[in-house]
Amino acid sequence: MSTKSRLDKYLADCGAGTRSQLRHVIRSSRVRVDGEVQKDPGYPVGPDQSVTLDGMPLKRPGRLILMMNKPAGYVTATEDAWERTVMELLPETYRASDLKPVGRLDKETEGLLLFTNDGALLHRLISPKRAVPKVYLARHEGKAGEEDRIAFEAGLELEDGTKCRPALLEILAQGESLVMVTEGKYHQVRRMMASRGLPVQYLRRIREGSLSLGELPLGQCRLLSEDEIGLLEKY
Ligand code: URA
Repeated sequence: MSTKSRLDKYLADCGAGTRSQLRHVIRSSRVRVDGEVQKDPGYPVGPDQSVTLDGMPLKRPGRLILMMNKPAGYVTATEDAWERTVMELLPETYRASDLKPVGRLDKETEGLLLFTNDGALLHRLISPKRAVPKVYLARHEGKAGEEDRIAFEAGLELEDGTKCRPALLEILAQGESLVMVTEGKYHQVRRMMASRGLPVQYLRRIREGSLSLGELPLGQCRLLSEDEIGLLEKY
């Protein structure tokens, strides 16, 4: 997180409301910075400054990183006119904390989805340059075999000519495989499997970097532990 932030964002990070609500609150002279009424929502606030709303001191929380076990049926977006979004599944206390999903899972994909308010970390984790490995459990039609494994390892070419980086395919059982990719192209795993005649019926992300989904129940979120944050820091 950058050290200075706009006053409306600072207040949103404190959970005081949405940015648009807070712009109104700020313009109504209810917010003071270092004791002075501040009516400019864009006013830059540093970590050592005191901020009050209606006389109540507010403290911005530090960096937040949450893991969600995303259920099917929710789109990965901060807002959507028609669909339910993953933001609706965040615990109430974090709704106004400026959390953003790290990358994207398709509407029908389940599993590990991170959220953070740390823009720099978010960009590192989704940057193709960092090649963060992501592992998916895929249930699919057809029987994957050694030739498929070799084709994944060599780097698949999708139907539209898109070239994929080398990936790993581990065959668990008939119709059930693990896929590891280090990039995040649109519908990537589904398209990779389809290109080998193995259409995916069910997809769940179970690992990202060194983080595992573990036993987190579907639809639930939890904060990462310090150890888990350490595992992400290397990217
Ligand atoms: N690959 C897919 O096809 N879908 C996802 O949601 C993630 C990876």
